[in-house]
Amino acid sequence: MASGGFDSEGFRHLRQGFHSPAEGAPPEGSAMAIRLRRLRRLPALRAMVRETRLSREQLVYPLFVCPGTGVRQEIASMPGCARLSIDLLVEECRAVHGLGIPAVLLFGLPETKDAVGSGAYAEDAIVPRAIAAIKDAVPELLVWADVCLCEYTDHGHCGLLHGGEVLNDPTVGLLARAAVAYANAGADVVAPSDMMDGRVGAIRGALDRAGFSHTAICSYAAKYASAFYGPFREAADCAPQSGDRRGYQMDPANSDEAIREVGLDLAEGADIVMVKPALAYLDVVRRVKDIYRAPTAAYNVSGEYAMLHAAAQNGWIDHDRAMMETLTSIARAGADIIVSYHAKDAVRLLS
Ligand code: PBG
Repeated sequence: MASGGFDSEGFRHLRQGFHSPAEGAPPEGSAMAIRLRRLRRLPALRAMVRETRLSREQLVYPLFVCPGTGVRQEIASMPGCARLSIDLLVEECRAVHGLGIPAVLLFGLPETKDAVGSGAYAEDAIVPRAIAAIKDAVPELLVWADVCLCEYTDHGHCGLLHGGEVLNDPTVGLLARAAVAYANAGADVVAPSDMMDGRVGAIRGALDRAGFSHTAICSYAAKYASAFYGPFREAADCAPQSGDRRGYQMDPANSDEAIREVGLDLAEGADIVMVKPALAYLDVVRRVKDIYRAPTAAYNVSGEYAMLHAAAQNGWIDHDRAMMETLTSIARAGADIIVSYHAKDAVRLLS
């Protein structure tokens, strides 16, 4: 074994196990050369050796855009979050940019829904209009656009539905159309969250053919069929009217499969790969980062946000401390980018 490891002289006392209860208190003096508490004694020392530093540059703030003007509809299960009409959304984006948050992630609520989710990809659809308005008012703010059909279909599934099945390949073509519409409106990043097979490659091809080879793709590469999306489905009005999403989103028990999903999306041209949800899947975030060393995002989802707020409102946990501990844990697991409804509250606490 190389010198300096557990076999080296410095660790002799550990190998000899002098912490065993039989020996009582550790011996005096240099015999216990290593005391990890020394660097925990003072705030400045703790800060110097801190391994994970959260920074505002890594945060993405999700926003919901709805029709109308002057509309602000609070989302009961997500305190502090609201559906905003485009005019108020633009004001919110100015504030977000002013706080130093570099990016927003947009979700749309269309005027009307139909079986094929036209509200996702029509040229005058709500999300392209919102993107153009934001880019006009706050050009430096990065605009990420979620690409999926579930907010736009009357049945609430993420793709075309036929006989109870969500069709893969016909859906992919529509997702690619949506991605092009968002890129055309000025989106910097398109983020497919539907979990159809092959959609990253199709979106990359469609973007390139339409002249948007510079538009980046953040794929929700490992997206699990999770109970933690509950509040979002109220916010975006996209709960499936029949069945569930287990036929396309991943089984929470699987981790090797996440590695395959991420590998495929990177091969198809994803620039950033995302794991979602974050907290119950931090092991997956770590594996993805260790294996691919690619830009990795994690989505701190609506249910995670709602739980923290609910407990804090009851006085059961300290909101700010729990929030920062949560976000730090996601970064420590290996996420370069954190999508979180906490972003605005968190940047106020960052130095
Ligand atoms: C759309 C989509 C969902 C979320 C992001 N994009 C919902 C779902 O898959 O059911 C969840 C986000 C959150 O819970 O914060 N497919």
